Amino acid sequence: MPIAAPTFPAPLQSTLSLSKLSQFDLTPSIGTEFSKETQISALLSNPVAIRDLSILIAQRGVVFFRDQDLTTEQQKIFIDKLGRESGRPAESSFHIHPLTPTSSELGDEVLKIVPAFGFRDMLEQPSNLPRASGGWHSDITFEPFPSNYAALKLTTIPKVGGDTLWASGYEAYDRLSPALQQFLATLTATHSGEAFKKVKSINIRSPRGHPENAGDDLLAVHPVIRTNPVTGWKSLYVNKAFTKRINELSLDESDHLLSYLFAHINQNHDLQVRFKWKEGSLAVWDNRSTFHTVTNDYGKENREGNRVISIGERPYYDPNSISRREALRDGAGSDLA
Ligand code: SIN
Repeated sequence: MPIAAPTFPAPLQSTLSLSKLSQFDLTPSIGTEFSKETQISALLSNPVAIRDLSILIAQRGVVFFRDQDLTTEQQKIFIDKLGRESGRPAESSFHIHPLTPTSSELGDEVLKIVPAFGFRDMLEQPSNLPRASGGWHSDITFEPFPSNYAALKLTTIPKVGGDTLWASGYEAYDRLSPALQQFLATLTATHSGEAFKKVKSINIRSPRGHPENAGDDLLAVHPVIRTNPVTGWKSLYVNKAFTKRINELSLDESDHLLSYLFAHINQNHDLQVRFKWKEGSLAVWDNRSTFHTVTNDYGKENREGNRVISIGERPYYDPNSISRREALRDGAGSDLA
């Protein structure tokens, strides 16, 4: 019997219900900020607004809100609704991070963001500090079913510094030559979170937000080019923190190609956006099509926050999907204007 061709979901269409809310784009390719009149807490019971937000976040990569009164409990409700309204698999829920302590006072679904482990010791000898670009990642790509959306609200903000940067995986894809785009679309990569086990002794929970995110191995294989089901756009999907090996290549070829792709993401600052946190700021991003990194420049000051991430679908590459630039050229996604 012939094997049926796989079918992929059609991209979602926005009703443009958010266009009446005051907002502005921070760069051409990534990042939109709403003015402080928009309170997420007031949109939680409006499924149309939540669905349109899920589309906007998937299109713009990361969306920022200021002066939010959102509680941590509401942050969870929000991130859960974003996933549900945008059609995530029924089995997917909140991720439980390997670094979340068993008795976290915030509950398993909330990861407390604290200064990077060992970072303060390194400050004593600046020559030992790794390059700032070393931290670029998409969240938890070591899971077979990784994250769709993430929301971070800082609770303690340094007087100066501690900005977060995001980079667009769509734009990173669009800037590659057609020959390299086609080659990358034939490849898969292994992602590993095994390094967490070396940072400190951790009690790995199972399952972690999906029945297939189970067991003690923090390893997954994903396509190098991924289609975002919400936009239908292609994105580069390898990241410096977790992607270890391109499976179809020799180790030497894989190392060189990954190092080129990481530099392509990290060094093209015109596909990045940098966000300055203030009290009440909330950042919400699409983990399928963006990368991010914190800036560890705030010395011995404190910087803390609560991050909630939800689980989406198993990553796939739809050969019929298009790129962001193609979509904008064709007038699709015209609510991005
Ligand atoms: C994260 O890596 O998810 C947190 C980013 C930040 O602390 O700004």
